Amino acid sequence: MSRPNVYVTRKVPEQALEILRSVASVTVWDREDVPPPREVILRELAQAEGVFSLLTDRIDAEVMAAAPRLKVVSNFAVGYDNIDIPAATKRGIVVTHTPDVLTETVADFTVCLMLAAARRLVEADRYTRDGKWKTWEPLLLAGQDIHHATLGLIGLGRIGAAVARRAQGFGMRVLYYDVVRREDLERSLSIAYLSLDDVLRDSDVISVHVPLSEHTRHLMGRAQFALMKNTAVFVNTSRGPVVDQRALAEALASRRIFAAGIDVFEQEPVSPDDPLLKLDNAIVVPHIASASIPTRIRMATLAAENLVAVLQGKRPPNPVNPEVLAK
Ligand code: DGY
Repeated sequence: MSRPNVYVTRKVPEQALEILRSVASVTVWDREDVPPPREVILRELAQAEGVFSLLTDRIDAEVMAAAPRLKVVSNFAVGYDNIDIPAATKRGIVVTHTPDVLTETVADFTVCLMLAAARRLVEADRYTRDGKWKTWEPLLLAGQDIHHATLGLIGLGRIGAAVARRAQGFGMRVLYYDVVRREDLERSLSIAYLSLDDVLRDSDVISVHVPLSEHTRHLMGRAQFALMKNTAVFVNTSRGPVVDQRALAEALASRRIFAAGIDVFEQEPVSPDDPLLKLDNAIVVPHIASASIPTRIRMATLAAENLVAVLQGKRPPNPVNPEVLAK
């Protein structure tokens, strides 16, 4: 029997390719630094039963229509806003993602951004390297405290909850807003549910942990930044379009809020001319919250396991549209 074809849209860890090669004939876009152009995806998927995709690949209805044999789209990410899920479900294509394995790593990085932005770490590093350090000064590069501050989580899914657990170690009071209320976590983590506006008004640090959808696009805009304290530190490790980036840059430039740590952008890669990149009180990094070596390898192998399971007619560990499997 001929082996199914799988297209992998980037050079990924070898461990994942080994899993795929054990059952399929695998073609890899062999660049690490750029995604395959759309015409390459359309051409490669014409014969493929499976695609191992990254969050940089738009797998929409047009791509699926050009891929008549496609059974599975396995995304190497927990987020899957790059994939048209209703279109996949309509065509009976299983979509999978990589939850859980990155939760703790992203939560670590979220805390890292909170601390770095609040304590002006990057600015201080630049200051020292630039030879500006003349003497000890009482308020030199003074920032905000994280310990015993109030943390406002926008979204209390897996990652939001993991950040809340870390916040306990800093003696923080934790508030949250989500569309789904989690009374179990409110009790076990001693956290309080408030409306979005009240979380924004009461928090010293605000961290966003919602998926991108039509309901969350620009959830944080000018009106939301206007509610925050002028000492507030804002962190986003979720998806860029959840935040109106222009409104964020204005809030930082006018000192409406104190600082921000930003991992994700409305357009990625962010333009070097973006106003956010000109601001000393913004820490900007290239979508790396889950980028520890062990976690990225585990994400890749999990994505491969998901893909192989579908090709073998088994239930994958992490389906996004399990209703397709029931058919
Ligand atoms: C995801 O998995 O969705 C992240 O943004 C990349 O780890």
